[in-house]
Amino acid sequence: MKRVVRQDPIDAAPDPVAGMADPSFSTDVITWQKMHGRHSLPWQNTHDAYRIWLSEIMLQQTQVAAVIPYYEKFLRRFPNVEALAAAPSEEVMAHWSGLGYYTRARNLHRCAQQVVALHGGAFPADPDVLAELPGIGRSTAAAISAFAYGTRAAIMDGNVKRVFARVFGVPTYPGERKTEERLWQRAVALLPATGVQSYTQGLMDLGATLCTRSNPACPRCPLAPRCVALATDRVDELPVRKPKKTVPQKHAVMLVITDGDQVLLHQRPDHGIWGGLLSLPELAGFTLAAPEALDTPAAQQAFQDRVAQLIAPFGSVQSCARLQPFSHGFTHFKLHVTPYQVTLDRRIASAEQSRQIWWDAHRMTDAPLPAPIKKLLLALFSKDSLFAA
Ligand code: ADE
Repeated sequence: MKRVVRQDPIDAAPDPVAGMADPSFSTDVITWQKMHGRHSLPWQNTHDAYRIWLSEIMLQQTQVAAVIPYYEKFLRRFPNVEALAAAPSEEVMAHWSGLGYYTRARNLHRCAQQVVALHGGAFPADPDVLAELPGIGRSTAAAISAFAYGTRAAIMDGNVKRVFARVFGVPTYPGERKTEERLWQRAVALLPATGVQSYTQGLMDLGATLCTRSNPACPRCPLAPRCVALATDRVDELPVRKPKKTVPQKHAVMLVITDGDQVLLHQRPDHGIWGGLLSLPELAGFTLAAPEALDTPAAQQAFQDRVAQLIAPFGSVQSCARLQPFSHGFTHFKLHVTPYQVTLDRRIASAEQSRQIWWDAHRMTDAPLPAPIKKLLLALFSKDSLFAA
């Protein structure tokens, strides 16, 4: 007999977007926007997609107050997309001059030409089609489409990221791909059934006027009762800042071996850091990652033995004193140097080691040394007492 195996539908997993829906969220934003939001910015109260597009591009990296005079002057010279498309690029650039981020102006001009050439002078209503035009990303496409045509499309610009990161207590950096994807999912899930213009403007207004980066006005915020950051006292910490790249830390002990008015320099290998330059001899095997590294008498003895061993071809140690440690950043790591100044009480005159050079103090400025080493030696040499003739 044939057995019937019951198969679960492959799409049985819960829909993450549906799970994040909450109609009261957009209702709160829209109600607040109508009462307290901005209503008389020059690009509001119009459905002219050209004007809305122009404002959204200008507002991408620039504050409202700086944009307004440029926007008005630009529109007087280029009142519609055809006028802009037909203008010489020098004139477009001249009208943008002072707003900064000039790639925006070049893309603006190209976009106008494509709207005329490919879309008969009408900005497409579909955000996916808009997003194929130069200078229009997903969020800008959604804003243009929502404001000009009432399309239910989600925005996610820097301000909205901040609002969402705080309200939902997003514990990771919003610029990170996975976090950003989740934010977009939330933004889509929370779109209102109607009133997308007020909602979109409301999110922008909240981010720009209340949920600011510093000193946010939480007592006046309509989302405060649901704000995870406020409830958990993390408003200042969210959104999570861009993580700093962690660079590996390396440590080295270097010896400033002096004898009279000379210092012993070491020629570095041709490859690797400071390749081919002169530098200070290093005490291989001693890293001194922490000042406590020489805490015990045994550790101090081992250190002194190693110094004496390295010095042996040149003489014997008279004194050994720790100098001010310093750090130097390379592209791929940070080097922490602990220098020790070693003086000799008996120099072996004949000893010549390959790659080791006794260098005269008065020629230090000309020495082919890495900058931080030269700085250290010049500072030491400038002390009258050290290399007194
Ligand atoms: N920032 C981006 N778009 C905006 C808009 N339409 N109004 C105010 N600020 C904005």
